[in-house]
Amino acid sequence: GDHKPAYRIAFSQCVGSDAWRQTMLEEMKRELSFYPDVEFIYRDADNSSELQIRQLHELQRMRPDLIIVSPNEAEPLTPVVDDIFRSGTPVIVTDRKTASGQYHAYVGADNYKIGYMAGQYLAEQLGRRGTISEVTGLPGSSATIERQRGLHDALNAYPGIRLLLQVNGQWLIDVARSQVARQAAQLSTADAIFAYNDQMALGTYQALQEALPGNRIKIVGVDALPGENNGLHFVAENVLDASMLYPTGGKECIQTAMAILKDQPYQRENILGTLVVDSTNVQLMRLQTDKIISQQRDIDKQQQLFAEQQKIFSNQRRVLNILVVS
Ligand code: FRU
Repeated sequence: GDHKPAYRIAFSQCVGSDAWRQTMLEEMKRELSFYPDVEFIYRDADNSSELQIRQLHELQRMRPDLIIVSPNEAEPLTPVVDDIFRSGTPVIVTDRKTASGQYHAYVGADNYKIGYMAGQYLAEQLGRRGTISEVTGLPGSSATIERQRGLHDALNAYPGIRLLLQVNGQWLIDVARSQVARQAAQLSTADAIFAYNDQMALGTYQALQEALPGNRIKIVGVDALPGENNGLHFVAENVLDASMLYPTGGKECIQTAMAILKDQPYQRENILGTLVVDSTNVQLMRLQTDKIISQQRDIDKQQQLFAEQQKIFSNQRRVLNILVVS
């Protein structure tokens, strides 16, 4: 229609191009389709904290009714997000956090717990003895900081486990692949590697296969996203030993946003569940996600049909108006 939207929601995404964040955006749009009177404004900072700061200032000038943000790195994004928060615009922080914790609501899984569970899982898989290396995301991202704290705390309970090497993969498959290749000699003595997402885990696997063919190094990632080139598939194919499920929370973000905008009760902390996906449960997980995906397709189809009906209806109304007027 040509009427003014009831609400304008802006979303500042730290990087838009990977499958995990595309899934998040699809979930948001699916939930938004139930609110046709909402205008959605989207900015993708392409992995750059500097660009994200500029985009948030731009969004702030547009005076949306609510801002959702996934901050690329915690410290650099804190002043602008705090400024928006203080100005009174509701702020939902998702997935990664700022350093101050100033927000109306947070949506995301518990990254400390993810690191902790990964540490416990690997330590037990190694029979409580051996060495573990890490391929981390950007050191300044809260998800890196929290996953690392969790991992290290978990491993403190295992005196037979030693941390070997930290490789900075910046969240990216290519960076992880080249950094692991560069340090393959040192990594050859690792019994296991915890990569902070599945894409870096895949890059790690590829680099190790090439540099140390036949190696038995266990690799664990994070995300466990369904789909051909994603974590669940890698676990099913034994490329990865496990992946920690990290739900995107796109739907929950929009639900929380609408509750805030409509002055309905909402939770400040919306902590999404996580679990270890390995060979023991990956088939079950795939059955579940396949089913969800097919249900989501049905919803999309319904929405499309509804939109077509709406168009026909408004055309008919226009014709009727002409008839009545003339
Ligand atoms: C996607 C991603 C995920 C990871 C998350 C952490 O951009 O790297 O793979 O779990 O961000 O914030």
